Amino acid sequence: MAEYTRLTSASPDDDEMQTKSQPTVTDEISPRYVLLFSVLMALMAISAAAAFHMNVLSATWKEPQALLRPKDIEDTFRMAQPSPNLDQGHATMRKMKFKFPRMVFPMFIVRANAAAPDTVYQSGPSVVLSQSDSMIYHWRTNSSWPKCYLAGWVSASKDLIAGHKSYTSEGDMTAIEMWNLSTPANPQVLKTMSWNTRPQRLSLLGTVNFTSRETQARLGYLDAQEIKAPTPRVDCLGDTEITVEVVCKGCRLEFEQVFSMPPLGFELMQLA
Ligand SMILES: *[C@@H]1O[C@H](CO)[C@@H](O)[C@H](O)[C@H]1NC(C)=O
Ligand SMILES: *[C@@H]1O[C@H](CO)[C@@H](O)[C@H](O)[C@H]1NC(C)=O
Ligand SMILES: *[C@@H]1O[C@H](CO)[C@@H](O)[C@H](O)[C@H]1NC(C)=O
Repeated sequence: MAEYTRLTSASPDDDEMQTKSQPTVTDEISPRYVLLFSVLMALMAISAAAAFHMNVLSATWKEPQALLRPKDIEDTFRMAQPSPNLDQGHATMRKMKFKFPRMVFPMFIVRANAAAPDTVYQSGPSVVLSQSDSMIYHWRTNSSWPKCYLAGWVSASKDLIAGHKSYTSEGDMTAIEMWNLSTPANPQVLKTMSWNTRPQRLSLLGTVNFTSRETQARLGYLDAQEIKAPTPRVDCLGDTEITVEVVCKGCRLEFEQVFSMPPLGFELMQLA
């Protein structure tokens, strides 16, 4: 139980309940001062209320009629920056001559057709994925970043049109499989292989979403999808070779993957 203690009488010799940490008040203020203080407070409250009222009146009086248009209101909003320090970070990286993560174009793109298992299609830009066709991709990179991921990269449609690029597709393009293959001792043999002579599938690395980056960027739940499972991710620090088989079950996709802007195709991305 708390006891009221006179400040002056609080001393270590006192009873346990009367230590300095106990709530203390002094009863030495005279009633006359209390009354004076109350009156002062009341006066202050009244003048504050009056000042506020005056302020409200003068504000409405100074800025009459003209209602703000929605556009004006919109212009006064602070724009939310998803990553406020991103531009600054990039500027610093440029200044310090840091290496930016890069998109790595494949070295070989080779078609393998189960329906024509001995046909050799040669490495080239034509990509055909179907129930019976898969594509063997081979990348080589000397990366200063420890991790890379594979992505289906579909630039915005207006950019594709401007760059004279297009693709045709049928079925579900959101889960195209990426299988890790054993890289042959001499990767050049990959340029001339058939369905029957292609390297063995080792493991499923993950799937990629071959839909417009523009659309993906608008969908919050896809933010940072590249660093979530089951993204096909690979270790890529230093000189690295990666061979994968791109497989699309129940879909059909055709396009030309050429090394020019805007990007369209399956790409190896360095992960910063
Ligand atoms: C990879 O890059 C490092 C550092 O930039 C360099 O020392 C090395 O020679 C490169 N390796 C190959 C195979 O190009
Ligand atoms: C893919 O297979 C190669 C063997 O060719 C292996 O060294 C590598 O670790 C595998 N990568 C992944 C991410 O499983
Ligand atoms: C792929 O991206 C599209 C938007 O382009 C989105 O609607 C869909 O949910 C994504 N699929 C997966 C499996 O993330």
